[in-house]
Amino acid sequence: MQGMKLIGFKENKTIKMQKERANGKKNPFNEASWQSSNRISLDLTYLFDTPGDSSSITLKDIEDIAPQVIKAHKMLKKDQGDICDDGIPMTGWQTLPEEITPTHLEEIQSAAQSLGSQIDAFVSLGIGGSYLGIEATWRALTHTYFNQLSRNERGNAPEIYFLGQNMDPDYLRDTLDMLQGKIVGINVISKSGTTTETAIAFRILRNVLEKNWGHAAKDLIYVTTDATRGALKNLSKEKGYKTFPIPDNIGGRFSILTDVGLFGLAIANIDIKEFAAGFKYMRNITMVDDFWKNPSLLHAAARHAAWLKGKKIEIVATNSVPLYGVARWMEQLFPESEGHSGHGMWVSPSLYSEKLHANGQMVQQGERNILETFIMLQEHDNTVTIPHDKDNIDGLNYLVKKGQDINSINRKVIEGPAYAHYLGDVPNMIIEIPRRNAFSLGEIYYMMEISVAISGYLLGHNPFIQPGVEDYKKAMFALLDKPGFEKKGKEIKDKISKMKNIKI
Ligand code: PA5
Repeated sequence: MQGMKLIGFKENKTIKMQKERANGKKNPFNEASWQSSNRISLDLTYLFDTPGDSSSITLKDIEDIAPQVIKAHKMLKKDQGDICDDGIPMTGWQTLPEEITPTHLEEIQSAAQSLGSQIDAFVSLGIGGSYLGIEATWRALTHTYFNQLSRNERGNAPEIYFLGQNMDPDYLRDTLDMLQGKIVGINVISKSGTTTETAIAFRILRNVLEKNWGHAAKDLIYVTTDATRGALKNLSKEKGYKTFPIPDNIGGRFSILTDVGLFGLAIANIDIKEFAAGFKYMRNITMVDDFWKNPSLLHAAARHAAWLKGKKIEIVATNSVPLYGVARWMEQLFPESEGHSGHGMWVSPSLYSEKLHANGQMVQQGERNILETFIMLQEHDNTVTIPHDKDNIDGLNYLVKKGQDINSINRKVIEGPAYAHYLGDVPNMIIEIPRRNAFSLGEIYYMMEISVAISGYLLGHNPFIQPGVEDYKKAMFALLDKPGFEKKGKEIKDKISKMKNIKI
């Protein structure tokens, strides 16, 4: 039997765009009409007055919060309030879209071009803010099976892998298997330079690279870390690795537009100038204090009103497999910034329809403590038509109308649940993304960054620190008997031995 051929399908448009990017084709992202046709929007239709809910969110709730939101926004713009980490105001990401220069972006592109053209596979090592945005953006803008495509189909980019975000030896080993026989370049990203998961993966990979290429391995290793301090900075000086600095005044989860994100994205041949333009476009939109015209302010007010009304879980659901990573990025941005002093909403990233058949029953009829935010992709890269069937035994011929394809049907995967869940007393809002492009990604990231910063002011605490994350890191160091943590390790082990150790 011969292998299957895709009879009746045109070229995959995602692959086409990957190839076109490699040939220098660009979206006209500086043109006003292109920008406005790629503007993301926020729809609050289903937020208010959920019908059977005595604590539903009303328009008045939002109007009442508006003055606090505007005040917070004014403070944020002036770098005022509880925003420092170690004495440094952590709001450098705010003005970054206008400070980042074309020259800098070109330098990053040329460094990426220089490494990318020498290697078969690229590994990005990092965790949390040093990882999630890169993977989210890469997945959002590339083919689902990127690494299985030919180099030409990938738009001349190397294969892309991620390590250092967990310590599962099977995942690590399986990834190493994928690198076998290939020329591998790596970018290790860690602001502190001490995060255990990333540091271990880096040591293992560095060791393999050095065994293969000796001293020349240094040309395949790029380090993104603090500009002056830390173990990674010192190691880079010692070994002669090329480094990219992470600005002091930008924390991990706000760092996707810094070299943290830009280098990996440029390796994947994503247009980082277009990406930066999306940030800048949303910055201009969100600079205004006019509450009803500013999506970040409205978004922050809606979420805060929901939280005050007892909504403790935010489902962030998308109808786009490639955009699922954006929901995962939000899963970090919001809880890591809001989860202080017993406050904050748990963010649950979800892919619809899949999750509707897992937790849809709970969303519709379970405990009414849920807010839902949809990330709705309007126009997928590809259109797949449903074929007409003369027997129609499956009853699907009603969908085979002119112009009806899975692209348009998949919008109903958001529109249907938005309405049904509203009737089930789950207030929700829809963020519409016109298309999968770097510009839209820049827009949504910046919109969310402003929103979560405002949320910090509304909740009354600093959204730019994460002492809770530090606690787990220290507990791990202690349990691993890291030098300097022996006393704490003994204390923890003693405490655990006195707990009700029930194990069957
Ligand atoms: O947002 C944050 O600050 C964190 O998620 C960090 O990015 C994460 O803990 C990784 O830290 P580092 O870059 O120091 O390895």
